[in-house]
Amino acid sequence: MGLKILGTGSSLPKLSVTNDMLSGLMDTNDEWISTRTGIKSRYICSDEKLLDLAADAAKKAIDMARIDKDEIDTIICTTVCSDYLTPSMACMINKELGISCRSLDINAACSGFIYGLELAKAYIDSGIAKKILLVSAENMTRLSDWSDRSTCVLFGDGAGATVLSEGDDLMAVSVTARGNEELLNISGIHGNSPFDKTEAGENFLHMNGKEVYKFAVSSICEELEKTVKEAGIEFKDVDYILLHQANMRIIGAAQKRLPVAKEKYLSNIDRCGNTSSASIPILLDEEARKGRFKKGDVLLMSAFGGGLTTGTCAIKWGI
Ligand code: UT7
Repeated sequence: MGLKILGTGSSLPKLSVTNDMLSGLMDTNDEWISTRTGIKSRYICSDEKLLDLAADAAKKAIDMARIDKDEIDTIICTTVCSDYLTPSMACMINKELGISCRSLDINAACSGFIYGLELAKAYIDSGIAKKILLVSAENMTRLSDWSDRSTCVLFGDGAGATVLSEGDDLMAVSVTARGNEELLNISGIHGNSPFDKTEAGENFLHMNGKEVYKFAVSSICEELEKTVKEAGIEFKDVDYILLHQANMRIIGAAQKRLPVAKEKYLSNIDRCGNTSSASIPILLDEEARKGRFKKGDVLLMSAFGGGLTTGTCAIKWGI
């Protein structure tokens, strides 16, 4: 068994914030951000809640899949910044769509979408689920430290969704993690227990950019090589590569190491910045709606992020 993608959807906040707009708020400039990251602007939530984006992306994916929403028996949402700690984002999407089904969130940081695909495959293979809505929704700008110019300029908000069902299109998928909170972390809620003697962390994202960068380049290349082998194909058989949109220089480093033509790497980082686990499904949906993919095209995807997690897959486009 396995799975196939029936439909995709995405949703971005209406406010686009350019590098020049940021340079009016802090000591930064378009030249630094563009040359170090490839980012020119990012979409940032202003009056939108994350649920608005998640539900909008979900509805578009359901429309493309041409299914009745009541056929969905499982909602998986990948996020590090749910509107509530509980209920989960998936439960809120379930409420917004007006359906009742198994609903759960997973947090694998920027690798969440690939973790979600693997979990969906396991649900489908075991016969537990038949139609799964996988939504990746992130509000990273709410967790960014806006007094730290080295991280806050990198992130954007958005949601991407896919509807998945039984099929043979997922050729290979693998995920892993190397536990490490030093290189990238966001502290949890500390609360006000009178008995708690531990120190509260700041609820902002902290990242050692240089070390995460090195981890990203080596893990993307190693994991893609493994995935290509596992899928029983060669790099020449690959039509498109969708990497986690964290930094154009990371994508450039992968392009130098892997034997795949540059034109096959798709990207929207210039417009969207890093939207964590939503970055690959947003890119997938945007390219699908442009008519980029034809049936049977082989897509490679690879993500890395906090955890430290990685996730990689090869999937045939089947719509
Ligand atoms: O999805 C989560 C995964 N995260 C990532 O993929 C991030 C991976 N890492 C990166 O993308 C890069 O490490 C960054 C883009 C975050 C940083 O690039 P870098 O080349 O490693 O720069 P740096 O941190 O070494 O900073 C170089 C200089 C510093 O100045 P000095 O000390 O050399 O005088 C910084 O203070 O750039 C300065 N700087 C800035 N200048 C203008 C840092 N941030 C900014 C800024 N504007 N926004």
